[in-house]
Amino acid sequence: MALTGLYAALGLLFGAATAFGPVPRITWEHREVQLIHFQEPEVFNYSTLLLSDDKDVLYVGAREVIFALNSVNIAEKLNELYWKVTEEKKTKCADKGKSKQTECLNYVRVLQPLNDTVLYVCGTNAFQPICDHLNVMSFELGGKNEDGKGRCPFDPAQSYTSVMVDGELYSGTSYNFLGSEPIIFRNSHQSPLRTEYAIPWLNEPSFVFADVVRADQNSTEGDDDKVYFFFTEMSVEYEFLGKLMIPRISRVCKRDQGGLRTLQKKWTSFLKARLICTTPDKNLIFNIINDVFILKSPSLQEPVIYGVFTPQLNNVGLSAVCAYSLSTVEEVFSKGKYMQSATVEQSHTKWVRYNGEIPNPRPGACINKEAKAANYMSSLNLPDRTLQFVKDHPLMDDSVTPIGDRPRLMKRDVRYTQIVVDRVSALNGSVYDVMFIGTDKGALHKAISYENGVHIIEEIQLFPNFEPVQTLLLSSKEGKRDLYAGSNSGVVQSPIAFCDKYSTCIDCVLARDPYCAWKSREASCVNILKEGEIERDWIQNIAGDASSCPDKVREHSLQHTFKHGSTAELKCSQKSNLAQVVWKFKDDVLKVERPKYRLLEKALLIFNLSEGDSGIYQCLSEEKVKNKNFSQVVAKHVLKLKKIQPSTVGPTQTAAQTEGNTDVAKMSTVPTEGSTAQTSTTQIIPITTGKIITKPIGPILTSADSSLEIFNSVPDDVPQKTLFLKSNDNFLLMFLFLFFFILFLSLLSYNCYKGYLPAQCLKFRSAMLFGKKKSKSDFSDCEQSVKENLVEQGSIQNQNGEQPKPAHDTGYETEPDCGNGQIQHDKDSLQAHKEVKDKPFDVKCELKYADSDAECD
Ligand SMILES: *[C@@H]1O[C@H](CO)[C@@H](O)[C@H](O)[C@H]1NC(C)=O
Ligand SMILES: *[C@@H]1O[C@H](CO)[C@@H](O)[C@H](O)[C@H]1NC(C)=O
Ligand SMILES: *[C@@H]1O[C@H](CO)[C@@H](O)[C@H](O)[C@H]1NC(C)=O
Ligand SMILES: *[C@@H]1O[C@H](CO)[C@@H](O)[C@H](O)[C@H]1NC(C)=O
Ligand SMILES: *[C@@H]1O[C@H](CO)[C@@H](O)[C@H](O)[C@H]1NC(C)=O
Ligand SMILES: *[C@@H]1O[C@H](CO)[C@@H](O)[C@H](O)[C@H]1NC(C)=O
Repeated sequence: MALTGLYAALGLLFGAATAFGPVPRITWEHREVQLIHFQEPEVFNYSTLLLSDDKDVLYVGAREVIFALNSVNIAEKLNELYWKVTEEKKTKCADKGKSKQTECLNYVRVLQPLNDTVLYVCGTNAFQPICDHLNVMSFELGGKNEDGKGRCPFDPAQSYTSVMVDGELYSGTSYNFLGSEPIIFRNSHQSPLRTEYAIPWLNEPSFVFADVVRADQNSTEGDDDKVYFFFTEMSVEYEFLGKLMIPRISRVCKRDQGGLRTLQKKWTSFLKARLICTTPDKNLIFNIINDVFILKSPSLQEPVIYGVFTPQLNNVGLSAVCAYSLSTVEEVFSKGKYMQSATVEQSHTKWVRYNGEIPNPRPGACINKEAKAANYMSSLNLPDRTLQFVKDHPLMDDSVTPIGDRPRLMKRDVRYTQIVVDRVSALNGSVYDVMFIGTDKGALHKAISYENGVHIIEEIQLFPNFEPVQTLLLSSKEGKRDLYAGSNSGVVQSPIAFCDKYSTCIDCVLARDPYCAWKSREASCVNILKEGEIERDWIQNIAGDASSCPDKVREHSLQHTFKHGSTAELKCSQKSNLAQVVWKFKDDVLKVERPKYRLLEKALLIFNLSEGDSGIYQCLSEEKVKNKNFSQVVAKHVLKLKKIQPSTVGPTQTAAQTEGNTDVAKMSTVPTEGSTAQTSTTQIIPITTGKIITKPIGPILTSADSSLEIFNSVPDDVPQKTLFLKSNDNFLLMFLFLFFFILFLSLLSYNCYKGYLPAQCLKFRSAMLFGKKKSKSDFSDCEQSVKENLVEQGSIQNQNGEQPKPAHDTGYETEPDCGNGQIQHDKDSLQAHKEVKDKPFDVKCELKYADSDAECD
């Protein structure tokens, strides 16, 4: 268990980590899922949550206020209680050098149930922590104003944890104003207990979690209930150049009364051990623990401890989940070796394994039947030798190893902050632990682990502003299980599954979500916990084998007509991040590598359309699970060549316009068979506009977002708009073009600057250098295609034969001349950009015209 070369190992992080971590199968953006929010104006730091499942109430402790919310719908506020700091206290706090606006306020940190009618609440109260009783009926404080020292931190920025066990509060926090004296404390009338203020006991700990595990009632050992604390602290046992952090589990016994002489009013049962969370080869060491969840359930043989970890030097954002069985933990505490400090070279202390004799009763053990038989009825009777030993040796030499000797889940580019775990029975009776893990960017990962791996079912953006998830709670109510997350700006309620978002059997099964099953008769994906009874014909397979799904897939096809030489954009969007898109043309796989095609993230472009390109195009999503390949049609497009009489293809704009109109008229009669099926569909992204452009153009810049935007805003049965226009130059058109072009440029450079387009940025720069040498004839080519796009928008039709000037001849000051009444407000330009973005601009041209890449880096 030596940590030799830890720093070297941490240094290797980057290289070793590149291949890490499963990809979430589905990513739900914040606006894609229906979440319920609660936030009050001017209220921040919603960091303490308490759920009362039997009363359907969620209590929220925020800064200077406590709320009671309806846990069925947290948008409904039941009660609120402002709990403010007195002006006098605030001033006193500010005098001590703390910020009056932020620190010298009352941050509610403890919210624990005392009994049916009373909550025990504590707040930092401008660095003078106080606790009180909150009557949940009247929603008023009892006015006790107890000193909250040892139960609540002074400083809102300091770590804390607490748990209420049989009316006594167990807390891990700091005991003084400076935050330099850590403490694990029991607030009790009969026997308040605390830790020794000594480095071997607690060495700059950062508390993350505490919970009680009840003794097995059926056990004959007469064991005690135990309270576990989890924290990261400074290591005493490993010596490195810098400070090495160590994740710890510690425990105390509920019946501990302290010692009579030695360890008076101190824990006699406080022991701690290192939690190991490393890869089997020990190359990656996760030594910061961020949160813990203890999965306890009556059906469970023994509780399972889940912890989320990050490495100390986390330059790449690496996280892991490790799971520990309680028996491993207990084994370490009840049978493991102790560590002891030895003084070497005068002042230097080294921690080594203690191999000497261990006093009897075993130091740190709870008083059980065996101890009682030896006449040690309580910790007050314990011999001094035992107490002195535990006082000097609170640290175990043995460590707690994770189940399977490896992390359950490791992931790169993410920092996990919180975890809750639910145990569910799948339809076939197998039991799965579903992990809900919050990130520092406001997202939630939902993952299951199974025999040979881990699968991230989905990723949900809980908070739109990407702020860290600070608290996670899972309700355990039958049938209606929800998840609650707290952050600095508010609270969010999320369902535990989004089964109804899966519209096909294959999708429902490939999700591999133990909560979801396909109901064949109703052709819907349902949450099995919400269904009254489970029927035999439901389809679910956590291994992801969708072979039992019926083949029948409702298909909906979209018709497009096109003209010779134009470009078509066929949309296809599928949600799964694990699937591959395959295009088929007339039932053969399309070779999208050919220059004729261009595969975008959510569309296929076909250039220079001709007779041979008409036919049926199918977009298939292929997902491979366990060597099986499941494919389904996501979108189907029918392309038809439009027969044009030579006379109508006149060079005049009028002719073209008429034609465009007839096209539209014609398209609106296209039957939209199956469109009802499609509205209930999330996977099948319908094609909204078949853009046909008369001129063959280069690569088209379409961002994934814009196509999604279109998808969201256009109803499914909108007739396909196919426009055909002859290129014609005119004055107004030119201005319009310039206007949109400049908008586009500014947005491009903004995006560039923001780093949204890294690859394009580079191209942009290099193209910039060459672009200036390009001949003028190139410009007109580009402009023509851009202009056509503008015409296609249907904004203006005119005829005049003036050549547009190259864009770099005009500055930003020409914009008002466009006369659209559009001023360069951010909102306007964004709005305009949305339209422009969707237009297939020739990338080459943009690069050529670019004269503002100064911000590009
Ligand atoms: C409270 O919330 C504010 C606003 O988000 C944040 O800046 C601050 O750091 C939070 N303070 C604490 C102690 O969490
Ligand atoms: C709850 O606890 C409070 C304070 O200890 C006590 O006054 C009250 O009677 C208790 N209520 C019930 C229903 O036990
Ligand atoms: C205790 O034992 C009884 C009978 O053997 C059994 O029904 C019960 O489930 C057990 N309880 C626990 C917590 O194991
Ligand atoms: C349930 O299905 C999973 C996935 O196919 C399989 O691994 C497991 O063995 C099944 N369990 C039972 C009890 O059949
Ligand atoms: C467009 O396709 C035709 C044949 O259909 C071909 O002759 C012509 O060269 C193509 N044009 C371009 C620009 O690729
Ligand atoms: C899926 O199967 C098809 C043939 O049925 C094969 O061409 C394709 O490469 C497979 N896809 C994957 C991802 O294995």
